[in-house]
Amino acid sequence: MKRIAILTAGGDTPALNATLYGAVQRANELGIEVFGLVKGFDGMLSERLPHVRLNPLFTTIPELDPCIGGTIIGASRRYIDRDEKETLKAVSGRLERIVIEGLMCIGGDGTINGMQPLSDLFPCTLAPKTIDNDLGLNHIDEPNEWIRETDDDGEAEYRHTMSRDDVSLSEIVNYVTPGYATAVFVVAQSIDRIRTTAESHRRIAIIEVMGRDSGYIALGAAYGQPDMILIPEVDLDYPKIVERVRHLYDLQKSAVIVIGEGVRDADGQLGAKSRSVDPAGNVIFSGAAERLAEILSQELGDDYFQKNKRHESASSAIFTRKLGHTQRGGRPILFDRFYAAQLGGKALELLISERNNHLSTLKWNENAGFTLGELSANQLRDRWGIIHAREVHPSLYDENRFQPSKLGRDYLEPIFTRAIGHEDLEVLHDTLFSPGNLVTRHQSVNVAMQKRIQYLD
Ligand code: F6P
Repeated sequence: MKRIAILTAGGDTPALNATLYGAVQRANELGIEVFGLVKGFDGMLSERLPHVRLNPLFTTIPELDPCIGGTIIGASRRYIDRDEKETLKAVSGRLERIVIEGLMCIGGDGTINGMQPLSDLFPCTLAPKTIDNDLGLNHIDEPNEWIRETDDDGEAEYRHTMSRDDVSLSEIVNYVTPGYATAVFVVAQSIDRIRTTAESHRRIAIIEVMGRDSGYIALGAAYGQPDMILIPEVDLDYPKIVERVRHLYDLQKSAVIVIGEGVRDADGQLGAKSRSVDPAGNVIFSGAAERLAEILSQELGDDYFQKNKRHESASSAIFTRKLGHTQRGGRPILFDRFYAAQLGGKALELLISERNNHLSTLKWNENAGFTLGELSANQLRDRWGIIHAREVHPSLYDENRFQPSKLGRDYLEPIFTRAIGHEDLEVLHDTLFSPGNLVTRHQSVNVAMQKRIQYLD
């Protein structure tokens, strides 16, 4: 291959530019031209096909900096429907006009679904990304554990019937996805900051973190030493939770509880789940922390807080914080930068060796540490063709202590022990309070990139 295209799709992560960088650097070594397609599949659907040369004369453009979060070529949650044959043909025709021989996508499960119909027309590969760390499998046979049922309205529902009590860490397919480490870095620091208010004002903090139906970000939050972690994979047991909160509050006059945004109880999702406007069919989670605060207020009651003169009411003692998009943005920490770039380079290699519809993966074992691997995207699909979000395996979580289990801690350590580089701290030291920040306004990379965008005639 002499020229390939690359796109970033789905929600942004701090490591997208690093993945792009790894792919482009590898392409430079191999003498391949890389065109970035602007705004993911959205750009492809535009008749003008906005695109950018990422390595003119096999030199990476200076705007592509692996230390800067987000993606310089833009992303969207728009995808191409496999049934829209005419659109697919039109897209393929447009790419042919700029002599693109293959496509590398950077994304998650939605991106694989968007890429799959295109892979019938030309070679496509994927480099994984998602802060949710839910693109992968706890073990290779996991897709076969899903069963399909029909609800009262005739809608298909999928249920995971776990066949195994534990997993070995070396079996995990795609051990960790770029973006996850930086998200946990933000979460752990936030817990540390919120805790001081909880302690000083004798309050109970409920901190809601992202991750949709997967509790990996909440699990990693353990580094911030919250008192309790509640993950979506384990139904909330209110009597047990209330007992633990009382114990903690009696002991330390405060408590910090981290919850994954998708937490549920026996009746279903705690917060509201609404369809987002994005065509990927993703849902937006909202309100889980507020709902849990209401439940805890009722269960603990005002008297409990009044009796020791700690607070006037349960509702004044309990507060919620949703960390939101801070988890998805900013400079990626060393772990993410390094492995995102490796996975980008590997996905490019897969593309030029025509490993069509494959993705690059990260494996881990005790002897070799992290190594790169590959997987056919179809191996992520159940027998009905669905890619399910990877869940935190029950063996990684101790539901009695509301903390990672021993295996959970063993899972986290290889990712995080040396995840922060010295330079990550030096950059903070040198740049955050630079007097120049007060003089010069933020220079948006979008302005610089706009000057590089080209269109079909
Ligand atoms: O999938 C990544 C993610 O950040 C989820 O954790 C979160 O629920 C969702 O995206 C938020 O999406 P948006 O940025 O579209 O609101």
